Amino acid sequence: MKTAITELFGIEHPIIQGGMHYVGLAELAAAVSNAGGLGTITALTQKTPQDLANEIARCKDMTDKPIAVNVTFLPTVNAPDYPSIIKAIIDGGVTVVETAGRNPSQVMPYLKDAGIKVIHKCTSVRHALKAQDIGCDAVSVDGFECGGHPGEDDVPNMILLPRAADELDIPFVASGGQADGRSLVASLAMGAEGINLGTRFVATQEAPVHQNVKDAIVAATELDTRLVMRPLRNTERVLTNAAVEQLLEKERELGENLTFDDIMDQVAGVYPKVMQNGDMDSGAWSCGMVAGLIHDIPTCKDLIDGIISQADQIIAERLARFNAA
Ligand SMILES: Cc1cc2nc3c(=O)[nH]c(=O)nc-3n(C[C@H](O)[C@H](O)[C@H](O)COP(=O)(O)O)c2cc1C
Repeated sequence: MKTAITELFGIEHPIIQGGMHYVGLAELAAAVSNAGGLGTITALTQKTPQDLANEIARCKDMTDKPIAVNVTFLPTVNAPDYPSIIKAIIDGGVTVVETAGRNPSQVMPYLKDAGIKVIHKCTSVRHALKAQDIGCDAVSVDGFECGGHPGEDDVPNMILLPRAADELDIPFVASGGQADGRSLVASLAMGAEGINLGTRFVATQEAPVHQNVKDAIVAATELDTRLVMRPLRNTERVLTNAAVEQLLEKERELGENLTFDDIMDQVAGVYPKVMQNGDMDSGAWSCGMVAGLIHDIPTCKDLIDGIISQADQIIAERLARFNAA
């Protein structure tokens, strides 16, 4: 399927695997790219810029297709060494960077000089317009239903995507709640040029995470996510578990007085415990409402081929029927 996004990134299908902490490693990124989508390595999962350089090289040994690296700008006092991260990306010959968190104005000149395409992930039209203004090539518009950080505006994709289409000149992909061919067709109908998937790619054969994580996503319904850290204005959509319910209890108890220190046990250092050890009650980890649409653990190729063939079929058969009426 050809769209502005496939043309921009030099990929076969308009399907992107979003950056995911402790999930976006070389194995998954290579599998997605080999299947014709755009696979993404998550920079901050690597402990040092040298580790990131090694991970990029490992991925490039597994695929000769374009890959992306996600650079998440965290609201933290001890900022990661972003200049060295950007250097590892440029030296590694990566052609696409997905930025998230704060807008990437500080690194844009370096990425543009290196000929790298930048797609910024954001949760509002105003942030998407800002990304366009500072020279991003595309944006990934993350609706309220998304796994991870949906922002504080709570606008779901049924509204956010057409709003983005009305305002933006650069192409955008729909992110959040994307599962299958129905998602792709609906997103295209609302003006997107492709889709970005997080949770769906965690439940794939190649995702380098513990089987317990994949099984938990398959077992979950659309009612099983929770919003945590709302009082800190750092809202995250996560899968519920014992630690998450404890965290929410603390939020209710402390209200406006809640600080990050109060919930440290439930949110800090959780990802390796969950993703590597399969310790599912150890804390809060991102998961989208789309879990309710995930019932299997396919290979990335079967998943992507299935999305495209279902989309083709919907366009040619179901939608064509309405057109004729
Ligand atoms: C386990 C997990 C970890 C994630 N980690 C990151 C991250 O480190 N940086 C980032 O920009 N987005 C992160 N995300 C968000 C995804 O890239 C994507 O935007 C989101 O999952 C889309 O919503 P969906 O889960 O409904 O598909 C994460 C999502 C999940 C499920």
